[in-house]
Amino acid sequence: MKISTHQLIALFVCFINIFVANAAPTYTNQLEKRGWNSFWNNVKDAISNGVNNIIHAGNDVAVKLGIDTAKYGAFFLNMKKDENGVYHADFDCWQQYFGYNNFYDYMFDLGTSMAYNNDGMFSYNGENYILWAWKGDYVNLGAGAELGIYMGGKDRSSHWKAAPSHAMPMTLTLTHRTKGTIVNQWNNRGNDSWWITAFNPNYKNVNANDLTATFTVKFTNAGMYSAFEKTRPNGWSFNSSTRTATLVL
Ligand SMILES: *[C@@H]1O[C@H](CO)[C@@H](O)[C@H](O)[C@H]1NC(C)=O
Ligand SMILES: *[C@@H]1O[C@H](CO)[C@@H](O)[C@H](O)[C@H]1NC(C)=O
Repeated sequence: MKISTHQLIALFVCFINIFVANAAPTYTNQLEKRGWNSFWNNVKDAISNGVNNIIHAGNDVAVKLGIDTAKYGAFFLNMKKDENGVYHADFDCWQQYFGYNNFYDYMFDLGTSMAYNNDGMFSYNGENYILWAWKGDYVNLGAGAELGIYMGGKDRSSHWKAAPSHAMPMTLTLTHRTKGTIVNQWNNRGNDSWWITAFNPNYKNVNANDLTATFTVKFTNAGMYSAFEKTRPNGWSFNSSTRTATLVL
């Protein structure tokens, strides 16, 4: 069965609402970390009327509601589109609305192809940090990748919080094995990032294994850079003359 874009969107909206309403906070850590909670909460608010109708009446209503126009736009709330048609999460918005709950990884892991690297864990000045990166199929948002810096956890399964105070220059490049470059050297327009993201809706239904995400993080704090480099995390390489750590995922 081939699902139309309208149907897929309608289905996706249903999932969001059902999960927001009912899910136990089992998969919260991963999602909270990434800022997805606030994103989806905003989406939910923006489309709640439409969503209720969809749940009660199914996909046809979604089509009648014109989900692919105004409502579809809500998916990109707090996202900014660049000149190449690539979407990026907004630093200030996400930082501001960052909150706790949810299960969206569950949704992503359930339905789409995702991969991650969380080997970048280190301690500096009595505080634990982790650099955590993902790549894969972000459904409506297309092929994408993200990397964030988080602090305050003990191990990889503990609760980590976003570390916007440690924003630094980051870049993100995403390529596909056969389709070539999907995101080319995104650097947040030269602004520092604590969470760098890029999603290209022109590349849908990708397999995470066909994607290569390359991230660079240029540490502004020399002590922090050294502390991270010393841990020799898998997937990362280091250039001490520029204090730049590079992850190929
Ligand atoms: C940082 O981002 C703002 C928009 O949020 C942009 O106006 C500004 O030019 C950026 N800074 C640099 C150095 O590009
Ligand atoms: C480190 O970066 C500098 C400046 O970009 C470059 O000249 C040098 O070749 C790099 N070193 C390594 C080991 O990649």
